[in-house]
Amino acid sequence: MSSVALSNIETDKQTNAAARINPERVKALFPIFRNNELTRNLSYLDNAATSQKPEMVMQAMDDAMRLFHSPVNRGFYPLAEQTTTRYEQARERLKSFIGAATHRSVIFTASATDSINQVAQGFLLPRLKPGQNVWVTRMEHHSNYLPWQHVCEKSGASLRIIELNSTGELDLDRHPDIFSDTTAMIALTQTSNVLGTTNDVKAICEQAKQKHIPTLIDAAQAVVSNTINVQQLGCDFLVFSAHKMFAPTGIGILYIAPDRLDQVQPLRLGGGMVDFCADSIADTTWSEAPHRFEAGSPNLVGAIGFAAACDFVESLGQANIKMHIGELASSLYQQLSHYPNLHLVSPAKHLSSGIVSFYHDVIHAHDLAQIMGDSGVAVRAGHHCAQPLLRHLGVSSTLRISISVYNTNDDISAVVNALEHAEKVFA
Ligand SMILES: Cc1ncc(COP(=O)(O)O)c(C=O)c1O
Repeated sequence: MSSVALSNIETDKQTNAAARINPERVKALFPIFRNNELTRNLSYLDNAATSQKPEMVMQAMDDAMRLFHSPVNRGFYPLAEQTTTRYEQARERLKSFIGAATHRSVIFTASATDSINQVAQGFLLPRLKPGQNVWVTRMEHHSNYLPWQHVCEKSGASLRIIELNSTGELDLDRHPDIFSDTTAMIALTQTSNVLGTTNDVKAICEQAKQKHIPTLIDAAQAVVSNTINVQQLGCDFLVFSAHKMFAPTGIGILYIAPDRLDQVQPLRLGGGMVDFCADSIADTTWSEAPHRFEAGSPNLVGAIGFAAACDFVESLGQANIKMHIGELASSLYQQLSHYPNLHLVSPAKHLSSGIVSFYHDVIHAHDLAQIMGDSGVAVRAGHHCAQPLLRHLGVSSTLRISISVYNTNDDISAVVNALEHAEKVFA
């Protein structure tokens, strides 16, 4: 990361352990909050859906287009060689960001969704048998639910769901057969996009490994405020999207553990992923990973922005981010708990994810979100692509506040004021 941006991110470094984020200074790094009538005074609290982008990410992407744009992995002239180098440097950046052992394990995809589909169909489906189980959790996003449901349907295997206990956490004890010989795969989220619950994915991966059960971790909501180290986690696959961590949409990561690389069939076939294209597919040979999983012209500009976002997140520090968003979430939670018609569904213990979800007895979540929107507070209402979870909660929609590095106490007050206003409108 550039020292310019670092010096702008005001942190109170009184101790080495933690530095306090100054959200006003951080917010100044995000052009959207000063460039636009709609956003200048906006309390943007829909960060679990997608985050805003800092200047340094835009600058890196702009440079990629202005200064070194040309084909990746396809040209022999100096500009093309430089472009390929920059693209591979972006991969190296992601490799260090997630603690992968080799760049071969780091695959650029279109999104977390795309990554999960690649694993479900390219790894699991060819080996999945009737009678086997694939385990997900009750709190999965549809992206980590439907691809497994689909491959189970196709193969005659069963999709099993790890249920939640009364405190919104995984009830592993209820399912003694999770780590059994019939389990073909465990795929779970690190942090729920609705509840904010963060699961002990390391413990689950460790137990699964003892039984040689492959694991996939959906880190889409966890990656901004948790340092990820795939080797320490011991997962087989890990996925996330760039756009939830201050980088653009259209690019994500699929981590495949080195010993699984040769067990995954590429789903997307095309240019740049074969060593030898024979007349018959039987004689065609794939390139080495990661290229065999990246058919077509890669998303160069996205990858450059993604790498810059890794610098941004690490310069703030995931532990500092967690502290900041956790404190604001706790303050909000505490204030909301005084409203008798309001039901908080996020567990108080898991507020460090920065997610606070609730529903109101009288006001539908959509109406509440609309009133908040009109008051300059951007929040999300609906099922959050987590209908299996909402069925468990017994509601069709919740309102979700999701906090990021540029949010302040004023944003929290704006939510509470907008809620007061909505209650008066509906009184
Ligand atoms: C936990 C979780 N997993 C997966 C996804 C899917 O991410 P994308 O739409 O970027 O593929 C989301 C998006 O909200 C999410 O919150």
